[in-house]
Amino acid sequence: MTAPKKLFIKTYGCQMNVYDSERMAESLGGQGYVATDTPDDADMILLNTCHIREKAAEKIYSELGRMRPFKEANPDLKIGVAGCVAQAEGAEIMARQPMVDLVVGPQSYHRLPELEAKVRDGQKALDTDFPEEDKFEHLVARPKAKRGPTAFLTVQEGCDKFCAFCVVPYTRGAEVSRPAERVMGEALDLVERGVREITLLGQNVNAYHGHARGLSGLIRDLAKVDGLERIRFTTSHPNDMDDDLIAAHGDCDKLMPYLHLPVQSGSDKILKAMNRKHTAESYVRLIERIRGVRPDLLLSGDFIVGFPGETEADFQATLDLVEAVGYGQAYSFKYSPRPGTPAAERAEVDAGEADERLQRLQALLTRQQKAAQDEMVGREVTVLFEKPGRLRGQMVGKSEYLHAVHVTSDKVGRGDLARVRIVESVRNSLAGEVI
Ligand code: 5AD
Ligand code: SF4
Repeated sequence: MTAPKKLFIKTYGCQMNVYDSERMAESLGGQGYVATDTPDDADMILLNTCHIREKAAEKIYSELGRMRPFKEANPDLKIGVAGCVAQAEGAEIMARQPMVDLVVGPQSYHRLPELEAKVRDGQKALDTDFPEEDKFEHLVARPKAKRGPTAFLTVQEGCDKFCAFCVVPYTRGAEVSRPAERVMGEALDLVERGVREITLLGQNVNAYHGHARGLSGLIRDLAKVDGLERIRFTTSHPNDMDDDLIAAHGDCDKLMPYLHLPVQSGSDKILKAMNRKHTAESYVRLIERIRGVRPDLLLSGDFIVGFPGETEADFQATLDLVEAVGYGQAYSFKYSPRPGTPAAERAEVDAGEADERLQRLQALLTRQQKAAQDEMVGREVTVLFEKPGRLRGQMVGKSEYLHAVHVTSDKVGRGDLARVRIVESVRNSLAGEVI
């Protein structure tokens, strides 16, 4: 029997890439590959890339530079670039960096076995198609191995919203939803293998239309699965929060009280320029409605500062919105022009000004995040335990609000759900006692 070949995947960017990396590893499993967590002894290295903000391609070139010694030490090593940078600039990467054997876009990685065979044969392989066939149906089945208690499950990909700053509609293509029965099949399989919490993923997941009643229909069906205890979804657009999805936050016990709902800016002028198709006011009303059915909801968001045309008054409107809404978690970015997007043609805000705004916004968001975490002290939460902590006897998991919680207890193990009283808020986690 030949020894298994080793596959090292480095993943950048969003959770969808984490999911894709898992599926790519499974797919190459059929070609005799096993995963390794270091590039030193790998027979194949795959960089699963992200293109959302600036310097993505440069980052990949420097990462490839770091891989050079491995290729020199092992001429049989194959190097591949996957993900959204591959989609956007794959051919150029291959031309500029001869070390790269394989380029595969996010919509064609089910063809990896054929591409791998090609590179093993000494050829180069490039596939950045948007094929007709459903890649998930053409992937080798997940092996039946036991899994950890949480898993991602991609249900929707691509985006038709065309926010003026964003490359996603170009790199991931048009919105496509996986049929509900296939998602259910994959979910049942995950639960059979020990998964108790599933996070449904999509670039615009609440635009999911693979179920007659949309995302909430899928969530309600999943909630009937015995053994599946928690459901989450990310990431959403405000305009796709329909009535039943809002209602589900109030009446579906398995749907966790955490929502990532990006607004990007608090200025109507900037929201219009961003092509967001909602106003600050409509967003605030929407949050009020969701909190009306689920008052303890922990809200998360994304913000961009320094979008072309943003004045100090526009930025102030963003700060005002953040103050009015209150976020338990948030991500904020300085605008970076992405080639091919409409906003890239517009005059940029002074970089120093944008940096300064980003710092001010981050200071406010950090304050809110800390307040939301500190506010948990004294409360009882339910924790799904995922792994041992750094200290002896410690277990770490997540509360329903996605806060990391650690306890020192021999009563709980991996995959257990337990009620925990929070006793202390430390830097990035909460300390608790099992009740
Ligand atoms: N510049 C800065 N931030 C961006 N994002 C998307 N495109 C850009 C860009 N060109 C941010 C948005 C989005 C998150 C995933 O990344 O806030 O919600
Ligand atoms: Fe990009 Fe999200 Fe806007 Fe779609 S909705 S274009 S993924 S920021």
